[in-house]
Amino acid sequence: MKYTFSKDFFWGAATSATQSEGRTTTDGKGENIWDYASKKFNDRFYEGVTTASTSRFYEDYQGDLDRLADLSFNSFRTSISWSRLIPEGVGQVNPEAVQFYHNVLDGLNKRGIKPFINLYHFDMPMKMQEIGGFENKAVIKAYCDYAKTCFDLFGDKVSYWFTFNEPMIPAEAGYLHDRHYPYIVDFKRAAQVLHHIVLAHCGAVKVFREGQYSGKIGIIMDVIPVYPRSQNPADLKAAEMADLFYTRSLNDAILKGHYPEKLKVILNQYDQMPEVSTDDLSLIAQTRIDILGINYYRPRRVKARDSLPNTNGVFSPEWFYDNYEMPGRRMNTSRGIEIYPNGLYDIAKKIQNEYGNIDWFVSENGIGIEGEEAFINNGIVEDDYRIKFLEEHLIALHQAIEEGSNCLGYHMWTFVDCWSWQNAFKNRYGFYRMDLHTGKKTIKKSGLWFKNVILNQGFSL
Ligand code: BG6
Repeated sequence: MKYTFSKDFFWGAATSATQSEGRTTTDGKGENIWDYASKKFNDRFYEGVTTASTSRFYEDYQGDLDRLADLSFNSFRTSISWSRLIPEGVGQVNPEAVQFYHNVLDGLNKRGIKPFINLYHFDMPMKMQEIGGFENKAVIKAYCDYAKTCFDLFGDKVSYWFTFNEPMIPAEAGYLHDRHYPYIVDFKRAAQVLHHIVLAHCGAVKVFREGQYSGKIGIIMDVIPVYPRSQNPADLKAAEMADLFYTRSLNDAILKGHYPEKLKVILNQYDQMPEVSTDDLSLIAQTRIDILGINYYRPRRVKARDSLPNTNGVFSPEWFYDNYEMPGRRMNTSRGIEIYPNGLYDIAKKIQNEYGNIDWFVSENGIGIEGEEAFINNGIVEDDYRIKFLEEHLIALHQAIEEGSNCLGYHMWTFVDCWSWQNAFKNRYGFYRMDLHTGKKTIKKSGLWFKNVILNQGFSL
């Protein structure tokens, strides 16, 4: 069987500024929440590795761009670091950062690799966090000004812009689930942050449209498909609630221009409704994106709760469902998540049927494995598990495309093993292995496999 993708299909990989560039200290970069938290709350990070030790993209970008070209990528996503470009979050622009990003963009374009540029990948400048981060409306304005600065400086070199990566995460992980700084646990504040991120997204799109910049603008979202344990009405209800809180809340706002009515009713009922003005709602209603990126790693399986929630505790979407560990599920034990390739097909169908079959692409998909050195043979990581993972996900995607999904490309997470939020270098995701002691980057078997897929516009099985 041959799986062929269109000639202009986007093939590439994604990374983010904080995870690849690293915290550098002599080039005018301001601190962001990760630079701060990985030092101050060092024990929350695997083996205490901070943002100072990443994959050295800042110093080694020319080498990395050559590596991308070696893999025959035609596109590549990274993000601009807000705190590198504007160290205080507002005001003075850092000339060294301007030069650096020009060099990166020129280097990509020169190699025929389209830059997909994201403006925010979880990396709030510390100065902005000190005044409340996205809880404070002044930070929305600062973010929109930063977006305009990026469009003005780099607009003629970028054809695909993205306002946010996984906008749910800074709200959910930073204000409810104690995973990201500022480690606040308060649903209502999380909801306020999420709403303000939606407004920041809309504001940046507005700036882009009004400035008549060339190219397209979109957002990268993580749409975890929800599967109920059974067709029992209690399980179906649990799935509906998980989907409502974690997917439809954001998706409907971004892709349909309004929040789900049912969510408003529940939030009011539990006194968890954030402040939302009619002006906010009309801005959301007017905002449309050109392209959607979808990050997909795992499904969300849920069932009806086995016990009553502790309603004296913190309000949470988990009051309405339990996570379900399906017997027989295939696990990536390094990360503790299920592998379910068909989820990608289901997402594609959802976009096709519920969200107007908008142009989209897989903006992240990948498998993080702990202890990959065990698979090194003759100096190369023989990651057949990653090749299998890729094959299975691409087959699911191919089927959806055959059935009319407007999927324009596939980006893998990531091209060189990189530092990660909390897990630092525990799980490796790259097409290239990074030796943490020497900094040497060596292609893995999956990188060679992926290059062949690109050159052949697909693969046979
Ligand atoms: C995505 C993020 O959700 O998952 C990436 O956009 C992240 O930044 C990736 O690195 C993998 O997750 P983790 O936690 O294993 O690094």
